[in-house]
Amino acid sequence: MASLLRRKIIKTGAEQPAEHQLARTLSWPHLVALGVGAIVGTGILTLIGVASDRAGPAVLLSFVVAGAICACAALCYAEMATMIPASGSAYTYSYAVLGEIIAWVVGWSLILEYSLVVSAVAVGWSSYAVRFLAGVGIVLPDVLTHGPSAAGSFGINLPAVFIIAVVAGLLSLGTRESARINSALVILKIVTLTLFVIVALPHFDAANLTPFAPYGYGSVAGADGVKYGMMGAAAIIFFAFYGFDAISTAAEETKNPERDLAIGIVGSMVACTIIYIVVALAAVGAVHYSVFGKSAEPLALILVQLRQPGIATVIAAAAAIALPTVLLGFLYGQSRIFLVMARDGFLPPALARVSKRGTPARVTMVTALFVAVIAALMPIDVIASLANAGTLCAFVAVAACVLVLRRRSPDARRPFRMPLAWIIAPLAILGCVYLFTSLQVVTQLSFLGWNALGLVVYFVYGRARATMVV
Ligand code: ALA
Repeated sequence: MASLLRRKIIKTGAEQPAEHQLARTLSWPHLVALGVGAIVGTGILTLIGVASDRAGPAVLLSFVVAGAICACAALCYAEMATMIPASGSAYTYSYAVLGEIIAWVVGWSLILEYSLVVSAVAVGWSSYAVRFLAGVGIVLPDVLTHGPSAAGSFGINLPAVFIIAVVAGLLSLGTRESARINSALVILKIVTLTLFVIVALPHFDAANLTPFAPYGYGSVAGADGVKYGMMGAAAIIFFAFYGFDAISTAAEETKNPERDLAIGIVGSMVACTIIYIVVALAAVGAVHYSVFGKSAEPLALILVQLRQPGIATVIAAAAAIALPTVLLGFLYGQSRIFLVMARDGFLPPALARVSKRGTPARVTMVTALFVAVIAALMPIDVIASLANAGTLCAFVAVAACVLVLRRRSPDARRPFRMPLAWIIAPLAILGCVYLFTSLQVVTQLSFLGWNALGLVVYFVYGRARATMVV
């Protein structure tokens, strides 16, 4: 029993053997860009439609609630990431603070989060890319543009596999090169959303905000099992907010982790929350939610409704060009988490080897293969809500780590000491648990099933091979 709760003494990057050391090339502007790059994506571009459909104009409050919960979690991440500036994010903190079995569950949930986000965004990207290609006269065979449909027809989402391969190749080249390209694409993404706001906001009409909360402020299941209401929408739009946690996985590649990680995590989170609320206000104010709620490209549809089809096309094209930054952030994070779990003996040790360029090329390729298969074969809505469940689990663990360490080691050095820890960390935990209960039952059950499978893997493979130092 005690061995299940043994805790790991974390080696920072500098204490790792040479062949496992990552190159330190990043500073805080790279991290803010990495954060914004990983945060702004399919959530604001696509899921804003789904969320509006489920909450009505009260989706504005869904954004506020999800943003507030993520802000609480971001502060917890900043404290933990600067105290333990080692790769692995919530998995590493849990191993150091809460014990092996909890770390395993968190690591296994992170695999769900990061893989499924990469897969979901690749599938979302694919729709934009296919639409763009059709616009210039290149029509791909339908069977190669989506996974198997619910109706039973076969299909493989080839563009999604393609974009994952491109991003994985970039990451294997080197972290700094990837961060530079990422920064340019992040700027494009911000310009795109700004353009949308500039065009849509002047059309604001208060009449579009009524009825404000047609399904109420809680979360109620409809006949189809979907959760409606302000909180039901918050549980979905939560997808739009995370990504800042990917920054903490860059700890070992950051030049001055203690300062830069805190600025990167809190800075990117605050920037994105402001951007989202302005975009959401412009969207629901310009056109009634019932018009764009079911659209797969809600922002473009709103612009078409406002008689701006040219700008709608520009925005769709820019989205297709810039969405890969989300893939970059999460594929990066995923490969680092696999790397750390492999270093700990939970996964085959050959995966932990770093290439001559200082990047974990092998694990990046294995990760890419894994997420490409999911992207090729699964529908986007199923993927995104399961990703949320995995993320909520990780956030709860990080907030718990903060509280446990505050009690266990009150005088330990905390380069970033979050304010009001005993209020904000419990709020993060309660908020995440509430969002989890607002997800569809089938998602909750799938999440539990995934972790049951994880525990089988742990007891059959991982436990005996764990090489940590107690
Ligand atoms: N926050 C990321 C997105 O919206 C996952 O795509």
